[in-house]
Amino acid sequence: MAPPLEDVRPKFELKNRSYIVTGGAQGIGFACARAICEMGSNVVIMDIQDQPVEEYKGLSSKFGVRTEYIKTDVTIKESLNSSFAKAIEILGSLDGLVPCAGIAIDKPFTEQTWAEMTRIQELNVRGVFFSELIASQCAHVAIPGYRMAAYNASKGAVRMLAKALAVELAKWKIRVNTISPGFIDLDMTKAVRDLKNAIEGEQMWKSPPLKRIGTQNDLTGAIIYLLSDASSYTTAVDIPIDGGVQAGRIYVEN
Ligand SMILES: NC(=O)c1ccc[n+]([C@@H]2O[C@H](COP(=O)([O-])OP(=O)(O)OC[C@H]3O[C@@H](n4cnc5c(N)ncnc54)[C@H](O)[C@@H]3O)[C@@H](O)[C@H]2O)c1
Repeated sequence: MAPPLEDVRPKFELKNRSYIVTGGAQGIGFACARAICEMGSNVVIMDIQDQPVEEYKGLSSKFGVRTEYIKTDVTIKESLNSSFAKAIEILGSLDGLVPCAGIAIDKPFTEQTWAEMTRIQELNVRGVFFSELIASQCAHVAIPGYRMAAYNASKGAVRMLAKALAVELAKWKIRVNTISPGFIDLDMTKAVRDLKNAIEGEQMWKSPPLKRIGTQNDLTGAIIYLLSDASSYTTAVDIPIDGGVQAGRIYVEN
């Protein structure tokens, strides 16, 4: 016989849980950290910057949760290890990880250098790999686009990594999923936009079928869903949040 139907709202609750967000000093990572706090969880943010954005200071009192900031370089083994050790000491246990530390380099393929490719791999791939590895011991692919070869390779690696980990870690009831944001209106896309001409920059607004660029607020609902019990039977998936761009662009002119 089928089990009785359950209420949906409590499944989205994250009360009294504990999460780590890497790259959470600003941008998408901070938006995720804020959303997790709002849903009632304690959060440790790790990032290479000295300080997170100003709004971080008010999160703890606003949402009645514990927040800690640990300056960390996810590309340095000792830094990552000691920050995770500190975070676990602070949080007591860990319910999930949102690895957002990453960089983008926007250049034609033929101009990308050894040092740039190495940096992207060590941050976007190795940094995520070991953040997940450490976190699982005690959760993106970009739209394929030109001039971003090394970046796209790194995001493809992360998506495959998530699938492999989802299968391998399932026996411990650890779920691994990714989100793939499209163009999000933040420092990272601004830096890319500044390097492109006006028409190319405009495409971030015009080409998604939903006819606008995304914001951090478009991502947080999916993050909370994936971290919560509402997604308890979901693992090894990627959720594109891109205004429909992966299905097709409606305005492309080079
Ligand atoms: N903005 C977009 O349109 C977009 C789209 C798709 C995917 N993404 C991905 O989402 C993630 C976050 O992007 P964002 O737009 O918020 O970028 P962002 O540059 O605003 O944030 C990235 C954060 O990572 C931190 N960081 C950089 N190097 C680090 C290191 N060595 N150790 C620890 N932290 C480090 C930065 O200080 C920064 O706070 C990235 O992985 C990015 O590739 C962004």
